[in-house]
Amino acid sequence: MGGSFTLFPSQASTSAARVDNLYFFMLAVTLFFTVLVAGLVIALAVKYRRRKADEVGANIHGSTALEVIWTAIPLLIAMVMFVWGTSVYFALAKPPAEAMEVYIIGKRWMWKSQHLTGHREINELHVPVGTPVKLLISSEDVIHSYYIPAFRQKMDAVPGKTTTMWFEANKAGTYQLFCAEYCGTQHSGMIGKVVALEPRDFQLWLAGGAPAGTMTSTGEQQFAQLGCVTCHAANDKGRGPSLVGVFGKPRQMANGTTVVADEAYLRESILNPQAKMVQGYAPLMPTYQGQISEDGIASLLAYIKSLGANTPGSGPTSSGPDGAAATTGTH
Ligand code: CUA
Repeated sequence: MGGSFTLFPSQASTSAARVDNLYFFMLAVTLFFTVLVAGLVIALAVKYRRRKADEVGANIHGSTALEVIWTAIPLLIAMVMFVWGTSVYFALAKPPAEAMEVYIIGKRWMWKSQHLTGHREINELHVPVGTPVKLLISSEDVIHSYYIPAFRQKMDAVPGKTTTMWFEANKAGTYQLFCAEYCGTQHSGMIGKVVALEPRDFQLWLAGGAPAGTMTSTGEQQFAQLGCVTCHAANDKGRGPSLVGVFGKPRQMANGTTVVADEAYLRESILNPQAKMVQGYAPLMPTYQGQISEDGIASLLAYIKSLGANTPGSGPTSSGPDGAAATTGTH
């Protein structure tokens, strides 16, 4: 981040150029028509000005050809923006299955990052270059927004929800991280750094930290401490359904609907267990609202995901029980 003035942040992710190209196209179209309309207003005002005191203009009524043209051309341009914008949006919204996962928690006024390996950071996020990274974002209090301009990515951190964002850094460097949602008096100070490291440097960074345990092992401890394990036995003989292999799979509900067991469903089932009841089980589970922190939920999610292999959104590298995702930066 030099001192030189730039209009745009550097393009440090694989999708940055795609976002910029669309943006510049829209800017060019807007500029073209602004100049065209303003130019015509001035030129026609001069050309058709009143030259004699009694001069009266010709009386013209409609022109089908003209109306078709000025409807069709803007429609065409708008559809180009729509199709182009949609394709960029889908690319940004859908993380690759093999993406490395990092949990992000927003809290007045800091950003906590938690890697599957157990590494924790405050107001910093270290990621490897050349590996897709999926962030699972939540908030402990109010709505925040995780914003990395150099990656052209921004996602709200909403209390009670897990939102996702993904990117693949393509240039090693340190990039600005902002909170982009007004969240109180120190909102402007809720900033940090995203550090993109070459894969080898990322491995060195991982080796330098000494986490107490991986997220899945922490989640497993939580699972025991909170007593989840007494009902959710692995053999499906417990009072609650077994959670082995559940993540990412469709679940049959008591009311006949089918729900995919994604992060949002698991979170809801922990905090508001009766909201969606799995078929064949009694509504015995108490709520864990207030008894478990966002950190705890993140660890539990990581643990439950580790119980099921080859699930969508959680590829083989990120679902290993020991947070094996950290090794994805070696290719
Ligand atoms: Cu957090 Cu603004």
